[in-house]
Amino acid sequence: MRVASGWVCPSCSLARSRRSFSSTTTTFKSPRDLPYEGTKRSNLTHDIRSRTTILSLIQPTGIPHLGNYLGALRRWKEFQDEKPSPAKNRRRNHMLLFGLADLHALNLKQDRELRRLNIRQTYASLLALGLDPRESNMFVQSQVPEHAELMWILSNVASTGYLGRMTQWKDKIGVGADASMENLDEKSREKLKLSLFSYPVLQAADILLYKADLVPVGEDQSQHVEFTRQLARAFNSTYARDLKAPVFTLPEAILSPAKRVMNLQQPEKKMSKSDPDVDGRILITDEPDEIRRKIKKAKTDSVVGPLTYDPETRPGVSNLIEILKHVTKSPQTCQEIAEENRNTTLGGLKALVAEEIVKELDGVKERYDALMAEGDQRIEFAMWYGRKVASSKAGNTMRQVRETVGLPGPETSKALKLAVGASPDELWEKLNTTKANT
Ligand code: ADP
Ligand code: TRP
Repeated sequence: MRVASGWVCPSCSLARSRRSFSSTTTTFKSPRDLPYEGTKRSNLTHDIRSRTTILSLIQPTGIPHLGNYLGALRRWKEFQDEKPSPAKNRRRNHMLLFGLADLHALNLKQDRELRRLNIRQTYASLLALGLDPRESNMFVQSQVPEHAELMWILSNVASTGYLGRMTQWKDKIGVGADASMENLDEKSREKLKLSLFSYPVLQAADILLYKADLVPVGEDQSQHVEFTRQLARAFNSTYARDLKAPVFTLPEAILSPAKRVMNLQQPEKKMSKSDPDVDGRILITDEPDEIRRKIKKAKTDSVVGPLTYDPETRPGVSNLIEILKHVTKSPQTCQEIAEENRNTTLGGLKALVAEEIVKELDGVKERYDALMAEGDQRIEFAMWYGRKVASSKAGNTMRQVRETVGLPGPETSKALKLAVGASPDELWEKLNTTKANT
């Protein structure tokens, strides 16, 4: 399937023929492996034929769940699989950069040991999903200090009015969508830390630092990518108007069809790592029996009659149908899946959903356990390698940014070359001699 000129959706290479298998009560046509609608891009303008930089980050706040996987991580892996291997000496079309947003995760108050463990576990999870540090650069945000530096510079073109209208800080401090800085009560103001309010500016820095073209994320992040575009435009017009070319390109969000996988226990909320009830989410490292147990326990309803898809009135059932659709990459709509299986009981639906998830996540737990048992060496090496590549790109962008805004660049003057290895007194002396001789 073509989603844009010149770009063949990688999901389609996974297309195979339809097959059926039995549920406890009725034959269910598995939608798995039929051509899938693929990932959508908002207002596509980037030509995928040119060398594309694809970047995304995840907060290392726990082992990723099915929502993270379907909304973002599976897509990361697909991009990696699509890329010709360097070993085959073919032209690479994609530069892939995936990271752990550990600075963003400082919003979550945590014991330092737990934080370290979470970073390691998240990194191991990505490796267990098949991300390969030789193909995808996998870095840790805090290890590349340019993220924080660019954030500060971008803060100068970030409007607090725009930030105040964004939703994430409101969700996190538990105030309604119509809350604003003006009508916040004293307690909420106290809760709203500057880092939470300015979270999108750091995210924009993550993206612009690498001049990313495409950002594969779940739907909740699309407003952050939109904000990034706005900041890139503002930076270009404030500081780079007189230059031949703009400094920053405008990134595009690339959204998975699995926009919002919902919590299994509270299907009106999104599945999230931070929810205290672990039964609301499937971890990518859950054992098959744990997956079956959680899906069996998923909140549905007591509506009698055929299976129907209606997120308003049947959020739990509809969430399961959506999960089934996305895990199996079905090209059918959720209504069609429900219609085709109208006589399936809820128990039958749950059994099917569980088996498809088990199939999809097959092997992840084993690879994860092996990595965690192995000690730090492989993970540390991968982090080091990711940092090396990320730092080199970040350094180039920051040199350009500093020069554009008029901040001092690296020391290149003749006099400073004299300084290498010299004490301040010797240097001063040398400068005086140099001056006297010129
Ligand atoms: P969480 O909210 O669970 O802490 P993150 O904020 O680290 O997860 O998100 C990592 C990626 O996973 C982002 O691209 C985000 O959009 C995506 N994502 C998170 N939760 C979901 C969900 N329930 N459904 C779809 N995508 C999701
Ligand atoms: N804010 C994202 C989330 O909560 C994580 C993130 C940080 C990110 N920086 C990014 C995602 C840059 C994409 C690009 O999931």
